[in-house]
Amino acid sequence: MCANHNEIAAMLREEDLAALMRRAYEVKTATWGRRVALRGLVEFSNICAKNCLYCGIRRGNSKVSRYRMDESEIVDAVAWAADNRYGSVVLQSGELETEENAAFIERVLKAIRARLGDGLGITLSVGEQSEATYRRWLDAGANRYLLRIETSNPELYARLHPADHSWQRRLECLRTLSRVGYIVGTGVMIGLPGQTVDDLARDIRFFIDEGVDMIGMGPYLVHPDTPLAADAPRTEKSRLLELTLRMIAAARLTIPDANIASTTALQAIDPEGREKGLLAGANVIMPNVTPVKYRGEYILYPDKPCTGESSELCRGCLERRVKSVGEEIAWGERGDPLHFARRTA
Ligand code: 5AD
Ligand code: SF4
Ligand code: FES
Repeated sequence: MCANHNEIAAMLREEDLAALMRRAYEVKTATWGRRVALRGLVEFSNICAKNCLYCGIRRGNSKVSRYRMDESEIVDAVAWAADNRYGSVVLQSGELETEENAAFIERVLKAIRARLGDGLGITLSVGEQSEATYRRWLDAGANRYLLRIETSNPELYARLHPADHSWQRRLECLRTLSRVGYIVGTGVMIGLPGQTVDDLARDIRFFIDEGVDMIGMGPYLVHPDTPLAADAPRTEKSRLLELTLRMIAAARLTIPDANIASTTALQAIDPEGREKGLLAGANVIMPNVTPVKYRGEYILYPDKPCTGESSELCRGCLERRVKSVGEEIAWGERGDPLHFARRTA
């Protein structure tokens, strides 16, 4: 469906929520069936050189004790996900642009491919990097990359980040990722201080115009140990939930063949948040497969679910949640977004 700003804004503002979700869910089932793809999320390091004003693991937060899993721990977590027939994994960390970090990730990717072969989808979510680094990791075995633009509004972005963080560079990174051959995902936070519904409608337009294959969006949650906590007006959880569900539905209706995640942050504001995300048109869930001993140190936002639960526990929990809304898990399927096949045909 091709939608202009006013049509998208009407989905976010006026249309009856239940009707909008039904419409989006129909499009989702027509494209994907009543199925959900799993991505095992490995939060392998909370070391970050950046200082985003909203994020709990920003460089300036000295309360966080920093870790990086070693190569064998990461490969083991990925192997656990593969053995449990999660079709793909996401390797996520803070942003670092050192050569040491680039070489480490390259080694990890090669070790995963050596142990598990080519079947598994491997997504990186490790921030802004040079084109050479992106190419190097692609060659080492990565297939997909997630880099949230955070907001499509450059002025709003500037208010949420220190002066040396650049919206323009983030956009260039996204375009580079597409050009060098990744399946590319982006996304935004919803309910940011100063963000309007028109901004959110433009976020959807941004996804369409940039031709992204995957979308991950979640509510902005105020982390107490961040600068933004001081002046952030708190949006009601019910409002955040509704806006996020509307955004998922609008993304599904405008980009039917994209992979859209029902993100963990949704469950931080509603016990059934992720299930509701599925009913709004999402087709991806990202169960955490990080070893439990690290989970407490990877807190980007408060009330993060699954911080004390093991990978086994989350697996069973999510399976029940998915079934509770009449969906089934696409076990062992990589679940590449059809959008990518179309974009690169
Ligand atoms: N609330 C919600 N999402 C957050 N992120 C970072 N901090 C927060 C927060 N306080 C999101 C950003 C980032 C992703 C990894 O986590 O969108 O890209
Ligand atoms: Fe680092 Fe990402 Fe947090 Fe920004 S949002 S401080 S880049 S981990
Ligand atoms: Fe982790 Fe439910 S998914 S405890």
